[in-house]
Amino acid sequence: MFINNKENIEREITRRPSRHVNRSLTTILLTLLISLIVTTSWAQNENSAENIPSLTVALSSALTLEAQQLAKTHMQKLKKTLQGSIIASGPAASIKVCSVNAPAIARSLGTQHDWHIARTSTQIRNPNNQPDAWELRVLKKFATKIRKGAPVKGLEETAVINVNGKSAFRYMKAIPVGNVCLTCHGRKISGSVTTAINDHYPTDQATGYRKGELRGAFTLYKYLN
Ligand code: HEC
Repeated sequence: MFINNKENIEREITRRPSRHVNRSLTTILLTLLISLIVTTSWAQNENSAENIPSLTVALSSALTLEAQQLAKTHMQKLKKTLQGSIIASGPAASIKVCSVNAPAIARSLGTQHDWHIARTSTQIRNPNNQPDAWELRVLKKFATKIRKGAPVKGLEETAVINVNGKSAFRYMKAIPVGNVCLTCHGRKISGSVTTAINDHYPTDQATGYRKGELRGAFTLYKYLN
């Protein structure tokens, strides 16, 4: 009995410090675990947000700049092709040129720079240019800003959102209607242009615009890894 008690006391004495160590270790581990869970869920929330907090400021500025330059180059190439075609063969024949060349220019420029480049609108001519959910939200946001007096030209938007299940940096820039656009997107369109539009785009919604209105937007994305 005595021996047993002594043994017990000895065991108690030898255990006590290790129990103490165990308890503080558990506390440390628990604290670490909690902070890990908190950090992870915060990071997930931030990733699903439509801003760009998950990227560093430097990276998001670099990507925005790249997208801005590509949208500009795309616009210049389109205008050059369009004007060249209108001068060479007139606006009606240019509809066909546009239908082949506009997507081809976007594809080749995009592939060259590892971006996906396209144009979209709430009133589309080519059904392939239909906006997805994010693009539609941005187009509506642009329209609201314009109604409140913002100039069409400067409107742009960036976001980090999944595209086809992969994280992507997205960019949109508003496109205003200029004089040259009215021939094919305006309110008074010639008979031959109307026929050409109907031939190539039987579901066209992209007429009836006035100069200075929002025609649509350039829309670009790049996968982040
Ligand atoms: C010669 C006729 C013609 C002129 C001029 C023209 N477009 Fe278009 N536009 C088209 C055709 C055709 C398409 C469909 C292209 C395609 O198949 O991708 C189109 C498509 C678009 C789209 C893509 C969205 C959609 O509706 O499918 C935008 C944005 C656009 N045009 C803006 C403009 C702007 C801005 C101008 C003036 C700078 C302009 N267009 C001048 C014929 C024209």
